[in-house]
Amino acid sequence: MDYTNPSLTVLSSEVRPGALRWRSPSNIALVKYWGKHGKQLPRNPSISFTLEGAATDTTLDYAVRTQAGEGVDVQLYLDGERNEGFTVRTRQFLESLLPIYPFLKQLSLTIHTSNTFPHSAGIASSASGMSALALCLVSLEETLFAPFKDREQYWAKASYLARLGSGSACRSVYGGAAVWGTLAGLPGSSDEYAVPVRDGLHATFQDYHDDILLISRSEKSVSSRAGHGLMEGNPYATARYAQATRRTDEMLTVLRQGNVERFGELLESEALTLHALMMSSHPPYLLIRPNTLSAIERIHQFRAETRLPLYFTLDAGPNLHLLYPHAMAAEAKTFIREQLLAFCEDQRYLADRVGKGPEALEVSGAAEGGE
Ligand code: PMV
Repeated sequence: MDYTNPSLTVLSSEVRPGALRWRSPSNIALVKYWGKHGKQLPRNPSISFTLEGAATDTTLDYAVRTQAGEGVDVQLYLDGERNEGFTVRTRQFLESLLPIYPFLKQLSLTIHTSNTFPHSAGIASSASGMSALALCLVSLEETLFAPFKDREQYWAKASYLARLGSGSACRSVYGGAAVWGTLAGLPGSSDEYAVPVRDGLHATFQDYHDDILLISRSEKSVSSRAGHGLMEGNPYATARYAQATRRTDEMLTVLRQGNVERFGELLESEALTLHALMMSSHPPYLLIRPNTLSAIERIHQFRAETRLPLYFTLDAGPNLHLLYPHAMAAEAKTFIREQLLAFCEDQRYLADRVGKGPEALEVSGAAEGGE
């Protein structure tokens, strides 16, 4: 896939100011992407559920640039306030896209972004944030050039751009479940963008719950970027990449069959494997906290006592995601309230579930530049 296109420029006199707005959700990996190479290419395939509640709303205002200048002209506002750090990072990202989107240099861009989940929650916003921005960009391309023959091309390009921003973000552009990485058994799968698990996601998984226990919100001691980098020297890397490939394949089958027990076994093993890879990196590091382990023990106890299929997973951090079918939601909520909130910072958790994917939102208000 080569999206490089030097001729994608606009005739300034023909561009009217406008705005595009997307809400895009976060996702939780069931089989983890951990290790990358080249330009954000994964060392192994991964598969995730797209969430419903944890999302980013992004508005992209554009107008023809009145004064020529170097690079991309962009300002970023987070929750209504100008954010210098994000402006710089977004500018760098957009400038890295200039071979694909040379027209970005001809425009003045203003981005307003906000998350639907609290800042202080310690939840990463890169997947939702980057997918929302990528969708705004692809919508802008569609508005200016109408290049897409079908929706599939549109989503694939959004996923490709999201990947360049933050690897796992590429899976957020689809509802339900998505696979990123080439899998022999999945036609159309690619390392360059994610594909949806369109047909066959078993009904049990279509409204699966994911409640996020906010164990700690302190800054991570090692960033995901550094963590991916450390996989290059990890002695278990080759075996891990082969395992993740087999597991993504199996997870796909499990999601189609609706086998919640096998789903859970794979899910928990993936979480612990991810953190074992961190512990076996050089230098080694730990992102889980004592309360993460205490909560895991309670979860195992709960399962032994109730036989109910509630399983956990972890991202690159200490917070636990509890995944379970809708049919046992009442028991799960009672268990969380009575036994797990004690392990959470400020006794907080976020209730979420599998969602339908990103949503184009109406642009409101003249200030946002819409016509
Ligand atoms: O997309 P990144 O670079 O933030 O890495 C995400 C890595 C994990 O969340 C740990 C796993 C995954 O597949 O999402």
